[in-house]
Amino acid sequence: YDYDLLVVGSANADLVIGVERRPGAGETVLGGDLSVHPGGKGANQAVAAARLGARTALLARVGDDGHGRLLLDSLRSAGVDPAGVLAGGAPTGVALITVDPSGDNSIVVSPGANGRLTPADVRAAEGLLRASRVVSAQLEIPLETVEEVVRALPSGTRFVLNPSPPRPLPAEVLAACDPLIVNEHEARVILGEAGAGEEPEDWARGLLALGPRSVVVTLGAEGALVYDGSGATRVASVKVDAVDTTGAGDAFTAALAWRLGTGASLAEAAGYAARVGAAAVTKPGAQESYPTAEEVRAL
Ligand code: RIB
Ligand code: NA
Repeated sequence: YDYDLLVVGSANADLVIGVERRPGAGETVLGGDLSVHPGGKGANQAVAAARLGARTALLARVGDDGHGRLLLDSLRSAGVDPAGVLAGGAPTGVALITVDPSGDNSIVVSPGANGRLTPADVRAAEGLLRASRVVSAQLEIPLETVEEVVRALPSGTRFVLNPSPPRPLPAEVLAACDPLIVNEHEARVILGEAGAGEEPEDWARGLLALGPRSVVVTLGAEGALVYDGSGATRVASVKVDAVDTTGAGDAFTAALAWRLGTGASLAEAAGYAARVGAAAVTKPGAQESYPTAEEVRAL
């Protein structure tokens, strides 16, 4: 394989403002200075994996504009192969992000060019797919594009999905996931409120019954729960002071996908990924906050 990981997904310019608290409907609040960061769940995953040392490629679409160049610069400096990053068709995606004093965020995404990443783009990237040991995706691109990725997967290539932002998923996509990686909110949306239950073990069991070969439920500072049918294992995280949680889940998914490709068990990979996610929340922004393998070891 030429690539340890191929990420198929979004690339956004993150427009970030720190706020004391979020405004309600009809309300205006004053925040801090605006900062613009390279983001998007797909580009974030690719940068996170490359920073850790994975040979990584990204299939994505940006606009022919300054935000697109910001993303390409970030990908290149992290060492991501940008050959699969297509340009044009619409402006680069934008995420409007507020971050509160506890480091929690709220995000509104305008997909822009991400919405123009088509099933035909996936078919045209057949060579990238065949050259990659693991393929990961999220849901900031059209669902039919993710469906095409699943159809185009070479046999023996592992598929990892973080269904974010969540929506109900076709059986064909669910069946390909190994693992499906969700947080509580994503688990509840995919299960539907009725099927959800109260414990992470309930969500994992319910999700596995929908078809994936394995499930990982991320639990923020509490670590994660991994479930592959032979039972559930809790994986601890490390305690850190959260500055900005934006993109920590993307770093978790990327690290886990990469470690699985190196032969780690699901529990081992999730344990490593939890440390990567913890490191990411200690710094502002998404891509700029991702650790190297040495920084993970030092944590
Ligand atoms: O997961 C974090 C990401 O969500 C941000 O970088 C933003 O672009 C949105 O896609
Ligand atoms: Na961060």
